[in-house]
Amino acid sequence: MRVGVLTGGGDCPGLNAVIRAVVRKGVQEYGYTFTGFRDGWRGPLQDRTVPLGIPAVRGILPRGGTVLGSSRTNPLNEEDGIRRIQDTLRRREIDALVTIGGEDTLGVAALLSEEHGIPCVGVPKTIDNDLSATDYTFGFDTAVNIATEAIDRLHTTAESHMRVLVVEVMGRHAGWIALHSGLAGGANVILIPEQPFDIDQVCAWVTSRFKASYAPIVVVAEGAVPKDGDLVLKDQSLDSFGHVRLSGIGEWLAKQIEKRTGHEARTTVLGHIQRGGTPSAFDRWLATRFGLHAIDCVRDRDFGKMVALRGTDIVRVPLAAATARLKTVDPALYQEVGVFFG
Ligand code: F6P
Repeated sequence: MRVGVLTGGGDCPGLNAVIRAVVRKGVQEYGYTFTGFRDGWRGPLQDRTVPLGIPAVRGILPRGGTVLGSSRTNPLNEEDGIRRIQDTLRRREIDALVTIGGEDTLGVAALLSEEHGIPCVGVPKTIDNDLSATDYTFGFDTAVNIATEAIDRLHTTAESHMRVLVVEVMGRHAGWIALHSGLAGGANVILIPEQPFDIDQVCAWVTSRFKASYAPIVVVAEGAVPKDGDLVLKDQSLDSFGHVRLSGIGEWLAKQIEKRTGHEARTTVLGHIQRGGTPSAFDRWLATRFGLHAIDCVRDRDFGKMVALRGTDIVRVPLAAATARLKTVDPALYQEVGVFFG
């Protein structure tokens, strides 16, 4: 059996751990051979491959990023995209395709599998942890650890200058990174996309912290918006790839806080630091287990499935479930941490 592997969408720590587990188990236990496709769906679209065998996966477990490269190329937006993929797979005699990605990449895999008979198995990844079919995605724990360490560091500089420190973390649609790192780092305000915030309330919390001689930390997810959305949304723009960019909610907040409370404020945007570098032990553990189970799906010819974490078990769910619903922060969970604000 010849198995193709690709990684699509934004990279995240743990991708290499999946690739390594898939290849090692596939070669050593099942005698499969592998073809790596470069840069997500662009690989099969343009027939761009890399050799993938035991030597290629040696030493990659702790490395961030992906040895296969990644892109957000979507074959559904390309002329003749699906036929070109089918041609490549036929020419390269690929019997199964392991697709490692988020909502977009797995959405394409679901469609190829269901409607075009292409034998795909999915592995979920995103630092945002917003795929509803799995309890956790790898990459998330690493991102939370990085953000938590940053918040720890910002506490001391905030206290030294008695300033407000605003930390902007990733999360366009879901506030998981903000919620987990904010709680772990002892932030005083956590703002998430799911709950439009009241800027007056935020300023009241900030003021009350100063009254208690405490320099507050505000964690804000990049997709958070104020209740009066017009305030920031008028700055919304599309980048050259057509992605929506909310321009600097962190910067905007710091300016508003300074203006409304009279306290000096600074912003730190963590950005892609949250996605880079070595994966945490948890993410290596999860990614490796996902990889081992994904190659078992191939062995069982159980295509159109995605591996997922449920409790401590790895289960198989329909690939379509990966994109069915975004997993957002429950209002009750958000309320639970609200006790620390103010
Ligand atoms: O989906 C993962 C993610 O890291 C989001 O949290 C973030 O908004 C986005 O990707 C950034 O995308 P890009 O790397 O294309 O700028």
